[in-house]
Amino acid sequence: MIEISDLRAGYGSINILWDLSLAIPEGKLTCIIGPNGAGKTTLLRAVMGLVPVTQGRITLNGRALSGTKTWEMAQEGIVMIPEGRLIFRDMTVEENLIMGAFPKKQRKRTRANLERVYGLFPRLLERRTQVAGSLSGGESQMLAMGRGLMAEPKVILLDEPSLGLAPVIVQEIFTILGQLKAEGNTIVLVEQNTHMAVKVADQVHLMQTGRVILSQEADKVDLDQLHDLYFAR
Ligand SMILES: Nc1ncnc2c1ncn2[C@@H]1O[C@H](COP(=O)(O)OP(=O)(O)O)[C@@H](O)[C@H]1O
Ligand SMILES: [Mg+2]
Repeated sequence: MIEISDLRAGYGSINILWDLSLAIPEGKLTCIIGPNGAGKTTLLRAVMGLVPVTQGRITLNGRALSGTKTWEMAQEGIVMIPEGRLIFRDMTVEENLIMGAFPKKQRKRTRANLERVYGLFPRLLERRTQVAGSLSGGESQMLAMGRGLMAEPKVILLDEPSLGLAPVIVQEIFTILGQLKAEGNTIVLVEQNTHMAVKVADQVHLMQTGRVILSQEADKVDLDQLHDLYFAR
């Protein structure tokens, strides 16, 4: 499991996360919600070593992650599927997926992992020889998720996968998330779609101005109360 304790992190002299503590249990889906600018992306980036931590600790199964470089995270079993997807637009769908199999251990299983990803996302199989730049928003998200899965992660950090997508595609993405959870993956999901997120999550944490202000078991969440806090009504 990942344990975040008393974390401060930010950009240069601007601090964003304030003494944030959060436990991410193994095999569960942990959902982080909160308004724009709350620091959700910054938190995921801090776990990945993409923003400097100025106080506190992040551990993976009791071992500090602070010495691990971002490019070594996949080797540690952690992948981040970033907001905005960041796929290689001039490369084909399959080339993008193969890029995800970068960690040494996984490279020799590229073929098997491609099949797994195509099984989860049949649309990607249909489009495997097309350039990624020609994909729809939903397909791009699927490609970003598929590319992350090529590294055989144990922990998947997903930043707003449903952003800007049509409801039927959002439904599809959440179905896949449910499947990944059922397979025993540890998932951290940052989401604005609270209705969908709460259905698939085990734990829900609400962030505001760089802090976690509410943590609940997903089945105990009262969406009205959550939205009151969310919008500071
Ligand atoms: N690269 C950056 N440099 C400086 N400030 C940033 C940078 N990225 C984000 N921020 C600021 O950090 C705060 C939190 O942003 P972010 O973590 O992206 O929030 P969220 O993902 O919850 O919308 C915002 O005030 C944002 O303006
Ligand atoms: Mg964000």
